[in-house]
Amino acid sequence: MRLTEEQVEKFRRDGVLVIPDAVAADDCALLRSRANELVNGFDPTEAISIFSTKEQTRTSDEYFLGSGDKIRFFFEEDAFTPDGDLRQSKERSINKIGHALHVLDPIFADFSQANEWSDLAHSIGLAEPTLVQSMYIFKQPRIGGEVTCHQDSTFLYTDPPSVVGLWFALEDATVDNGCLWALPGLHTEGLKSRFVRAADSGTKFTKNNDEPWPDDGLVPLEVPARTLILLDGMLPHLSRTNRSERSRHAYTLHFIDRNCAYPAENWLRPASLPEVTSTTK
Ligand code: FE2
Repeated sequence: MRLTEEQVEKFRRDGVLVIPDAVAADDCALLRSRANELVNGFDPTEAISIFSTKEQTRTSDEYFLGSGDKIRFFFEEDAFTPDGDLRQSKERSINKIGHALHVLDPIFADFSQANEWSDLAHSIGLAEPTLVQSMYIFKQPRIGGEVTCHQDSTFLYTDPPSVVGLWFALEDATVDNGCLWALPGLHTEGLKSRFVRAADSGTKFTKNNDEPWPDDGLVPLEVPARTLILLDGMLPHLSRTNRSERSRHAYTLHFIDRNCAYPAENWLRPASLPEVTSTTK
């Protein structure tokens, strides 16, 4: 997929670009049914790991840190009763699958490794686009958790910054079911924090700037299924809780430029990366 000059300009200006009809309906259906198969095959007693960007202690566990080159399952924060039992079926309790579907699962690999996505990353400035992360996000009905305002480069950093996120809507995303919201143009404001491995084998946030993101200027990105949203890694964005009766499935890929340094302290140890360097700062 190649972008027009106008689209590239818009992406540079806003840090976000909505591309309608980017994914075939058959591909959306295929990815959704494959994700369901994977969840069906998952034994929830294998791992009770709750993913929430608000609670770093919970994300610091081995299951999370070891997921960069595996297919692992993460529950919604509200999936469990205080006694630790699932409130509803396993299929309705998973927050996401990550982080190496693009390598390890044949169906996701086929979709993810298509030239059109790396060409797209190339057309917005990545000299050698390298796919390092994939996530299938369920945003379950009623309990699909909030993701607070963040920059993807906080979680996936390169020096210099090169991250670009591809967010594929596999179902319609609306304000009601927890669509993305973004602050267009604020990708130029610098990186507020980094989420890195700590010396004690946990994780931590290192802050550059404590100022909260502004509330005004947030734009909802309501999109129909088959839309691709392109996100600059420095663009602040969020998604709110899904209180509706409809899920909001999305698949995301993250590319970095192979020419940029990939610090060893990044939490994510991807399945394949040419060289990991330490550029601690
Ligand atoms: Fe994000």
